Amino acid sequence: MYKLVVVDNPLAASFYEVFTFPVLRSKLYMTQREGPIVAVGANSNQKPIGLAMAEIVPNNQSNILSIFVDASHRNQGIGTALLEYLLKELKLRNCQSAQIIYVTGKPTTIALERILAKNNWTSPKPRMLVCNCDRQMLKAPWLQKEYPLATEFTIFPWTELTEQDRLRLNDRFKNETWIPELLNPLAHDNNFEPLNSIGLRYRDEVVGWIITHRLSPTTIRYTCSYIRPNLQRLGRILALYSESIKRQAANPDIFEAIWTVPFIYSSMIDFVKRRMANYMISIKESRESLKIIN
Ligand SMILES: CC(C)(COP(=O)(O)OP(=O)(O)OC[C@H]1O[C@@H](n2cnc3c(N)ncnc32)[C@H](O)[C@@H]1OP(=O)(O)O)[C@@H](O)C(=O)NCCC(=O)NCCS
Repeated sequence: MYKLVVVDNPLAASFYEVFTFPVLRSKLYMTQREGPIVAVGANSNQKPIGLAMAEIVPNNQSNILSIFVDASHRNQGIGTALLEYLLKELKLRNCQSAQIIYVTGKPTTIALERILAKNNWTSPKPRMLVCNCDRQMLKAPWLQKEYPLATEFTIFPWTELTEQDRLRLNDRFKNETWIPELLNPLAHDNNFEPLNSIGLRYRDEVVGWIITHRLSPTTIRYTCSYIRPNLQRLGRILALYSESIKRQAANPDIFEAIWTVPFIYSSMIDFVKRRMANYMISIKESRESLKIIN
């Protein structure tokens, strides 16, 4: 038998921290009876065996941050019970809905989706492709080609973005709607990777970018990339990608890359599936599901 408890203080958090992602542990330590972080644990004979955790966000909504059951206790209803108990706690704190976002491709994805289905969560909706590759990608035919740009275009390292460029981009963000916020380079270029973050100038104006981040000594994340819509042409985008990838490739110690592609960018999704998929370590999907709490 197991017991469910609310994890609401740092001591309890320390017992359960192994059951969430390292990056979320600082949040777990913030749990309190009345705070935005809500965590519930399962224990058997006083020994922690699972944890579910959520964050309350504005407008009485909440995000499920993680749910984990110790491998030797799975398929006994504990994951289901943890999620139900978490939703009860969220309701007590006036939450009206919960959202979960997760990445597919794990052996237990099927178990998670079964729990969601049987508890009337909305059927999972794909959000993004989650892509991961190593130097094998350098063999892909699209990377063997040249993508010459007209003379009005120049590719420059993001380290050379001037204060004036920044001010102009900022102004444009305020006054025009052509750059989706998700792809705003200025919102993403904190601690950017200088090695292969690059911009594209059309005459004297910055019209495109690839911003990357170093996640570990061996891995770069391609965080955000864009070209102004009226200048978008496959060849130009590929010129940018190819340049950024080649700059990474010149450093064999940094042999991994990860990136995501939202499903709303259907031409990029097609490109990944048709031209890149065969050269990748993995392509997973992130999905989301919602539940009204009543
Ligand atoms: C996802 C997870 C929390 C589920 O916990 P759990 O305690 O095993 O879940 P439950 O026992 O309550 O429910 C699992 C359901 O999936 C079903 N299931 C499990 N494996 C299955 C399979 N291969 N095919 C079909 N159904 C399967 C079980 O039969 C059960 O359904 P049922 O209650 O109708 O019989 C657990 O597997 C886990 O910790 N996974 C790793 C962490 C993770 O990926 N978390 C999600 C993202 S944060």
